[in-house]
Amino acid sequence: MYMRGFAGLMCVGVMVAAVSCGGGSPAAPTSVSSGSTTTPSGGTGTGTVSVAYTQDVKPVLDADCVRCHSASNARAGVDLSSYASTMRVVQAGSASSLLVRVTQSGGSMYTYLSGDRASKSSLIRSWVVDNGAAQSR
Ligand code: HEC
Repeated sequence: MYMRGFAGLMCVGVMVAAVSCGGGSPAAPTSVSSGSTTTPSGGTGTGTVSVAYTQDVKPVLDADCVRCHSASNARAGVDLSSYASTMRVVQAGSASSLLVRVTQSGGSMYTYLSGDRASKSSLIRSWVVDNGAAQSR
């Protein structure tokens, strides 16, 4: 399941990413890769992002997308096999990122999501929009 990423999905944990809660503002999103990925920075335990590429999103892309979107087989020029190449179809903080649009219900790649499609779709959206497309947590 992909529920673990949803625990603090709303506002908790986005402090590091500096992404305004629920906002569509792409003002200050940066890829959060500040060294401390395993140890919460503050004393509260909420100093890290809740959804990240390496731990949450990459497994989904590897399972459902990379067979058609790798470096050697990049359909539509899209390579989803690494963080750097995936970021070409992602604008951190923006729900209109190509990756978000195609994996939403009704999007052209939505049906390729296996298993719990709705959760995976939400996970990708949350990663991009609410977690600044962070590489790891
Ligand atoms: C069976 C092969 C296949 C799989 C699996 C697949 N795709 Fe695609 N994808 C394509 C093809 C072919 C295109 C180009 C035609 C189109 O847009 O439908 C494409 C296009 C895209 C585009 C560009 C769309 C655009 O409008 O420019 C993105 C982004 C994308 N795919 C993401 C994904 C994601 C994310 C997944 C996994 C959930 C995925 N794809 C799974 C074959 C695939």
